[in-house]
Amino acid sequence: MTGGHRLRGRVQVAGSKNAALAIMAASLLTPEPLHLRNVPRILDTALMAEIVQAVGGRSKHDGEGRITLQATQVTDRVPAQMAQRMRASIVLLGPLLARTGEGRLTRPGGDQIGARRVEQHLRGFRAMGAQVEETEHEIIARSQGRLRGARIVLDLPTVTGTESLVMAATLAEGRTEIFNAAREPHVQDLCRLLNKMGADVRGAGTDQIVIYGGRRLRGTDHQIVPDYLEAGTYAIAAAAAGGDVTIEECPNEDLQQALLKLEEVGVQLEQRNRTLRVRRDPGRTLQAVDMGTWVHPGFPTDLQAQYMALMTQAQGSCVISEYIFENRFQHATELNRMGASIEINGRDALVTGPRQLQGATVGVSDIRSGAALVIAALCAHGVSAIEQAWHLDRGYEDLVEKFVALGADLERRPAAVPAGRRVEPA
Ligand code: EPU
Repeated sequence: MTGGHRLRGRVQVAGSKNAALAIMAASLLTPEPLHLRNVPRILDTALMAEIVQAVGGRSKHDGEGRITLQATQVTDRVPAQMAQRMRASIVLLGPLLARTGEGRLTRPGGDQIGARRVEQHLRGFRAMGAQVEETEHEIIARSQGRLRGARIVLDLPTVTGTESLVMAATLAEGRTEIFNAAREPHVQDLCRLLNKMGADVRGAGTDQIVIYGGRRLRGTDHQIVPDYLEAGTYAIAAAAAGGDVTIEECPNEDLQQALLKLEEVGVQLEQRNRTLRVRRDPGRTLQAVDMGTWVHPGFPTDLQAQYMALMTQAQGSCVISEYIFENRFQHATELNRMGASIEINGRDALVTGPRQLQGATVGVSDIRSGAALVIAALCAHGVSAIEQAWHLDRGYEDLVEKFVALGADLERRPAAVPAGRRVEPA
């Protein structure tokens, strides 16, 4: 990437990665076909389609974001090498357990962004009458007969935990109540889908979800919601690089906290029905503004890295606090290698700017830190090389093409995806 180009033009937001992953897992709840539209063409959804096939389902896609999944029969075990490639595979435990009476999954270990514990998921399944066994490598959940509805109080509003438990509860006998449930837009989209399949899920988008279970679920059609995290990434990129970008299919209502911050920082925003125009004039100075991540509708942790890249271009000092994951500042080291001034102290990062970033060779550790480095490279003098860029392909559809269309100077070099990661986009 060669930095220094302003971004101009229009960019269309793809379907939500995190909604698509949970919704694809929900195909295991019924033998009937699920026809999905607006599925983002990214590595993670391709892998989820492979997993559905590996547990006995069928998957057909048209390469344009339409995918049909049908799980006429389902086995209980997700192959280890697949589960290990994507932590979101934990969301399959609920549907497998509810449909077959047993779910086996390779234990999701800690990863780059934190310990990523799952004890809340397992406590929920136990409350629903399952026996859950944990070995060093595997989680095995079994139920004798059907799961039973239960009152589940989550210690913290885990996203995939809420999704997995809601899905299990749709097939369980009786009423399940989940307190302190996650409210993210992807959780809401999953619940909408489940209701179209014939489930009775109430309260999605609030912290108390009630499911009246035990109904036979059927196939349906569903259009995945636009990805507010992808939209937020382009909004922050336009703010950092400067220019005038209109984001189409932008779910503005899901992005209110992030938009509030961008306005405080000094970016001009125009929200219309389904579009967001982001403008920053060349001479306009950005102001450093503190930010702390929080669960929805707070500022999303999945935009924290991108916001940090933006703050390297802002006047003054600010503290960015990461309250969701205990270890999500890897991008700070790479940003500092490009000339940023970021000091980490526990869950706080002190960013002082503005700094003229310099092009460098930097490494990506996860999807969102990759997005932050792209934003930094847009602002940098000279050429940057972003390595392990396949992380970006896990979560962003056509990222290179979209930035090129906005006037950025970047190209993809081959061999970005290591062996074992190469899957056809869904
Ligand atoms: N946690 C526990 N115990 C649990 C579950 C979670 O302590 O039983 C902790 C985690 O260790 C973490 C925090 O709670 O510190 C939040 O974890 P959560 O379970 O909500 O995260 P997740 O479900 O594993 C999803 C998204 C992530 C996103 C987080 C937070 C999917 C597939 N993944 O992960 O998305 O960062 O919620 O919003 O929905 C991404 O898209 O780049 C991404 C990482």
